[in-house]
Amino acid sequence: MKKVSIINFKGGVGKTTLSFHLAAYLAQKQRVLLIDVDHQSSLSIVVLGAKLWEKSLKKQSTVNRVFESFCNRKIPMPGAEIVIKNALHHQDPRYDFYPNLDFVSAQFELDDTKIDLASTNYGNANLSDWEKRTLLASWLDQIDAQKHYDYVVFDCPPATKIVSQNALAASDSYVIPVIPDDLSSRGVTHFRNLVETKIDKKLDYLRTSARVPQGDVPTNFVPDTRLAGIVIFLVKHAGRAISGYTNIPTEQIAALRRTWGNDVIQAIGKNKIGVPEAVNAGVPVWNLRANNVTPAVKNMMTSICEELKTRIDK
Ligand SMILES: Nc1ncnc2c1ncn2[C@@H]1O[C@H](COP(=O)(O)OP(=O)(O)O)[C@@H](O)[C@H]1O
Ligand SMILES: [Mg+2]
Repeated sequence: MKKVSIINFKGGVGKTTLSFHLAAYLAQKQRVLLIDVDHQSSLSIVVLGAKLWEKSLKKQSTVNRVFESFCNRKIPMPGAEIVIKNALHHQDPRYDFYPNLDFVSAQFELDDTKIDLASTNYGNANLSDWEKRTLLASWLDQIDAQKHYDYVVFDCPPATKIVSQNALAASDSYVIPVIPDDLSSRGVTHFRNLVETKIDKKLDYLRTSARVPQGDVPTNFVPDTRLAGIVIFLVKHAGRAISGYTNIPTEQIAALRRTWGNDVIQAIGKNKIGVPEAVNAGVPVWNLRANNVTPAVKNMMTSICEELKTRIDK
């Protein structure tokens, strides 16, 4: 089983769109668990549709339960009951394209839970800090994820706080979608340092200083999460420029490649009509029954997912 976080501290860079497509792409052949850990819940609405998502809220069947179990000891760590099996099919029985795509939704209250998490401690502070950062890993142990899935994909919030840290602590690798504007490009450097020198190191420090016995370390905890790839996403098409991109993105794409070399994947995600339409309809671009999704759009998404799969599998 491979676990991957789609993450960036910026919003609107394509995390949700990419998580959705990557999970669907992988689910064509293998068993995938897609988890929305962003309190904004965009992915939940995409995958489930508003009605089914609200149903999952009423049943308290969201990822929030995993985090609440730490803040409120009366709430037990949930099991597989928060997983919605064959999620796309549930939204619309015609969408039976991905029977092996299971899903866990998020809810707005996850934002409040984050605040509670930060202020809740039991006994040894380091042990508490360790436990609250390994809740997702523990939950994956709890549901025996290893046995049921080949991939787990986390759609992360635009933040590097405790929920994202949980996803990273459980992930073998992470993928950073980035828009080639100056700010996003600079952000990658900052973000990568943060993950490698702050988040992973901190977890390691907490584990050793709290003397967590080896048997208590979740088997789904991964101490050194590696960068699988940076995906240049949402590149605007200029039309007239020979390169196909406006000059500014061209320069910034070149700058990203210079800085990050092989960490930047070859395929580029362009800003294309059809992508938001498909996502809003709750289906990947490959399955939208509409004319405005051209083969070029489908091929673009396939190339990105194919390349990411190779890197995630490494
Ligand atoms: N390749 C694309 N072409 C056009 N629009 C896109 C593309 N990818 C994403 N979008 C749109 O851009 C916006 C931000 O994408 P989203 O995946 O929600 O980003 P994030 O999860 O990082 O906030 C959404 O409205 C989405 O529909
Ligand atoms: Mg999102």
